[in-house]
Amino acid sequence: MDKIKRETARNDRFEKQSWKPGNVLSPLPVVMVSCGGVPEWKPNIITIAWIGSVCSDPPMLSISVRPERYSYDIIQSTGEFVVNVPSRRQARAVDWCGMVSGRDVDKWEGAGLTQAQALKVRCPIIRECPIHIECRVRETLNLGSHVMFVSEVSAVQISSSLIDAKGRFQLEKAGLLAYGLGQYFEIGAVIGRFGFSVQKRKGKTRR
Ligand SMILES: Cc1cc2nc3c(=O)[nH]c(=O)nc-3n(C[C@H](O)[C@H](O)[C@H](O)COP(=O)(O)O)c2cc1C
Repeated sequence: MDKIKRETARNDRFEKQSWKPGNVLSPLPVVMVSCGGVPEWKPNIITIAWIGSVCSDPPMLSISVRPERYSYDIIQSTGEFVVNVPSRRQARAVDWCGMVSGRDVDKWEGAGLTQAQALKVRCPIIRECPIHIECRVRETLNLGSHVMFVSEVSAVQISSSLIDAKGRFQLEKAGLLAYGLGQYFEIGAVIGRFGFSVQKRKGKTRR
């Protein structure tokens, strides 16, 4: 407890400025969502930062998409998409796929990204990304500027290079990106594990 109090007390910059209400919540994941891949819709990619986990059982996430996006029509009509979690290596592709529309360009070709078959949904995964989360839309919420697709996770794939001999997902090795207030960040060092504040230190004997 004393350690928690000591570390908390170190933050002595309590003076704040009031800003107008806005989307300052940061950092956020930034992902490339693939969609389409059925006869009516060619496969497309949209960069998304308005994304979040919303339920554990069943596993669900949400993405929020503006109706004017080309991808909106695709997801609305197919009810499927894949969240491809990029690493630092795909940062430029992430940004570019958020700058141009699939109405005008083939983003796969333009960003040098490769399509591969998903496990459960019809749209392709982006092979270069280390993590793929396949989703089926369960509910569509019209929130205002954005429509939220509340979706159930139907399959997950993780690059074998990130899984150690004991089957642990070494997330810290993935070089993942974060996004906030118009900037991209590379996620840094691990500073603790779930529950570390209440765990006893191993191997420390009292004298
Ligand atoms: C970092 C970043 C995050 C973005 N997040 C979202 C988002 O959450 N929702 C959205 O509708 N558009 C978002 N966009 C904008 C779309 O990715 C962009 O308008 C894209 O060109 C739409 O492609 P499409 O017309 O092929 O669907 C984001 C763009 C960038 C660069």
